Amino acid sequence: MKSAKLFGVTAIVMVGLALIAGGVTWAVLATRGSTLPPPELKPLDWWEHCVLYQIYPRSFKDSDGDGIGDLQGIIQELEHFVEAGVDAIWMSPIFTSPMVDFGYDISDFYNIHDEYGTMEDFEQLLEKAHSLGLKVLLDFVPNHASTESQYFKDSVQRKAGFEDYFMWADGFPDPNNASNTLPPSNWVSQFGGSAWEWNSERQQFYLHQFAVEQADFNFRNPDVQKEMINIMKFWLDKGADGFRVDALPYLMEADPADHGGRYPDDPLSGISHFQPHQLGYTIPLYTKDLIELYDVVYEWREFADRYLEERGGDTRVLFSEAYANVTMTMLYYGNEQGETGAHLPFNFDFITDLSAESNARDFVYIILRWLTYMPYGGVANWVFGNHDNNRMPTRFRDSMVDGLNSLNMLLPGVAVTYQGEEIGMRDGYVSWEDTVDVEACNRGDPDTYHLYSRDPARTPFHWDNSSHAGFTIGPSTWLPVADDYTEINLAKQMEDPISHFKVYQELSSLRKEKTLSHGAYDMRALSDHTLYLTRYLSSHDTLVLVFNVGEITDTIRLDRVAHLQLPATVSVSSIHSSRRKGDQITGEQLTLSPGEALVLRAAPNS
Ligand code: FRU
Ligand code: MG
Ligand code: CA
Repeated sequence: MKSAKLFGVTAIVMVGLALIAGGVTWAVLATRGSTLPPPELKPLDWWEHCVLYQIYPRSFKDSDGDGIGDLQGIIQELEHFVEAGVDAIWMSPIFTSPMVDFGYDISDFYNIHDEYGTMEDFEQLLEKAHSLGLKVLLDFVPNHASTESQYFKDSVQRKAGFEDYFMWADGFPDPNNASNTLPPSNWVSQFGGSAWEWNSERQQFYLHQFAVEQADFNFRNPDVQKEMINIMKFWLDKGADGFRVDALPYLMEADPADHGGRYPDDPLSGISHFQPHQLGYTIPLYTKDLIELYDVVYEWREFADRYLEERGGDTRVLFSEAYANVTMTMLYYGNEQGETGAHLPFNFDFITDLSAESNARDFVYIILRWLTYMPYGGVANWVFGNHDNNRMPTRFRDSMVDGLNSLNMLLPGVAVTYQGEEIGMRDGYVSWEDTVDVEACNRGDPDTYHLYSRDPARTPFHWDNSSHAGFTIGPSTWLPVADDYTEINLAKQMEDPISHFKVYQELSSLRKEKTLSHGAYDMRALSDHTLYLTRYLSSHDTLVLVFNVGEITDTIRLDRVAHLQLPATVSVSSIHSSRRKGDQITGEQLTLSPGEALVLRAAPNS
């Protein structure tokens, strides 16, 4: 019990309440009586409740007419983020690359890719973004380098200091063909085919968990680890605010020293329709989620914290990328021994565990799973799409765009937006002839490529209804622009009185309210179709999202929504809703059309 003298008011009982916001528990002084100031809330660090926007630079905006997005294009459009209410951007790789995997195959980690611009362009981008109050994160790709990198060339030649920079191994004599050598193990690449490639110059195999042209670094070599720190330091020194860290589950593989001197075969999955060269033929026991890789991540966090201590300024963040089960994902936050890892691991549950088929109970179950497994003090985050997966409205339904963006913005923690989600962009159609994604080209053929292709989520951004959607002034684009750009584009949505973008703006400005940054949450399914999410905080308005994720009209009972005191006012409504901002909700029953989402505002109830 705290002394009421704190606020110079007597005879009012103040209770220490544990409120959960962004997954963090804080002691808050709750007050009774309206004459008191609102409770004192812990100030948040810049990233803990930010809206983070992923730019796919190749497809964002082309400034020079070559049909390829570039840094000057991003600079031209930085105001878009301010208008959208975005706090931080992260750009998929902008470093020198032969573009086999569109920048995830880096040949010079210290330079800007020429199609994207120059170091001066990057410096200008940073300066302008910072002057607009935007943080800028880079994509750090530690698992592999392009086979055109100097590191790899030096390693092929066994140049001193680089002999063990990559994962080199002898093969085995082929009993059926004396002129052939068999790979060291049965490991399968993420893009199909053996993960081992023969190098005739060095007369050894090297490992590539991704494309043949993406050679895996040897993270058991301390020199490699030092170089990774050098790379991060270089970009932080330039002024970057942190990194998204790529493909972490694949950082390390089993050590031959533990397996009688050879790389152990991954166990077979036993799924009969997979061939040995296909992903899924094996279970990645020795090639994914190795416990040793977390030590590397924890060291990077130490580096980031040390950097902040020495240099001052704002927190430099590490956001880690891993598709892994919930236990292995949560370990990126840190471990029970008190070691700290990434500021947050991306939460891909909306991509991997939810879809158009999911009902309201599935949504609540999957959302609460993250919040339940997240360690004490962790900051949650919500990802709805990225450059590796079909776009959000395509995986769900067009009618769900505003409801999904509402969930993203109203759930505790960081809201992550992939470019185009703010206007409800769907997948573009990319024919086999136009397909450029290495994953589709390697794993598919004209009949099956669409099952693997990541191109549909990478088509150019729709700025307006002019030719090429205003993406370029040039004659062509590196991937085709989706046909629906005349209907779905930013300029139109800024003009229309009701649009996905306007909803997005409303939501991002709502996030400034303490209820969303600091409040507690409560969430349930009211039926198979409709869920609610309540955010509440003493002395602040309660905000409630009701969202019909189903395909039929649903009537719910608002007396079952925890912490909601009627009457309520509509604060945000999905574009097809018949309700508009300011409408009063007084009745206990509420009927929602398929996909309809409403954010309701009600008086504080505590
Ligand atoms: C995500 C990803 C892919 C890329 C791969 C290798 O898993 O970023 O886009 O192809 O990692 O860098
Ligand atoms: Mg260009
Ligand atoms: Ca690796």
